[in-house]
Amino acid sequence: MSMGIFRRKKDAGQPDVSRLPCHIAIIMDGNGRWAKKRGLPRTAGHAAGAETFRRIATYCKEIGVRYLTVYAFSTENWKRPPEEVAAIMKLLKKFLTEALRDMEKNRVKVKFLGDLEPLSDELKTLIAETEKISQKYNGVQVNLCVNYGGRDEIVRAVNACMRDAGKDGAPVTEESFSRYLYTDGIPDPDLIIRPSGEYRLSNFLMWQSAYSELYFTDVLWPDFDKNEMNRAICEYQTRDRRYGGIK
Ligand code: IPE
Ligand code: IPE
Ligand code: MG
Repeated sequence: MSMGIFRRKKDAGQPDVSRLPCHIAIIMDGNGRWAKKRGLPRTAGHAAGAETFRRIATYCKEIGVRYLTVYAFSTENWKRPPEEVAAIMKLLKKFLTEALRDMEKNRVKVKFLGDLEPLSDELKTLIAETEKISQKYNGVQVNLCVNYGGRDEIVRAVNACMRDAGKDGAPVTEESFSRYLYTDGIPDPDLIIRPSGEYRLSNFLMWQSAYSELYFTDVLWPDFDKNEMNRAICEYQTRDRRYGGIK
């Protein structure tokens, strides 16, 4: 019996673990459309997306990816209805509470990138605690971008840089400037994944993405799984990274 449409989606195959991207960044997009397709409220999509994030972070840890950075909430996402913003903040609280509870088991270093000032005091305390307790782990590092905007990050860095300017009379360099970014100490992303069929960066890692390999897929974030991750990494492993040079 030939039933093409019922055939299982072809496995992507295993990536070569000796040449993994050191840093993978993901724009976790498509939660709303995933929910709409199922006749569910958008917030149900965010809840499903949060579960996907958990699974993908675990998978990255298993295969040995060093840094995983995810875009969870942008500086522009405040434009959404207050109920939706509140639901996302509630999911963040749930994530942090569980991360703190399971810290010893998971052993993941967690860091937040973005302007955390507008968040509630409760969230700020949970974030500070999570970052502090988890900083001793040195396996995988997961960076969560919350109230993050690439331009906002650069403008903040410029202001901080100007405050320090002239102290030693040295001109600003790419290297000295990048130390003012939220990503200080974190290598640039090798691979940036955007699901949900949108082909843009939406203000994500504007400085850091200069030489990142970009991977787009139509899969909605809540449906993104290990196989999709393998597919993205396998595709990355076919790319020729020249950095402007020749081979
Ligand atoms: C991404 O999913 C999550 C956030 C931006 C917080 P969306 O909520 O943007 O989902 P779509 O793009 O509307 O499907
Ligand atoms: C980007 O998704 C931000 C996050 C995933 C957190 P958006 O859904 O906000 O981006 P646009 O509006 O499609 O550019
Ligand atoms: Mg979106």
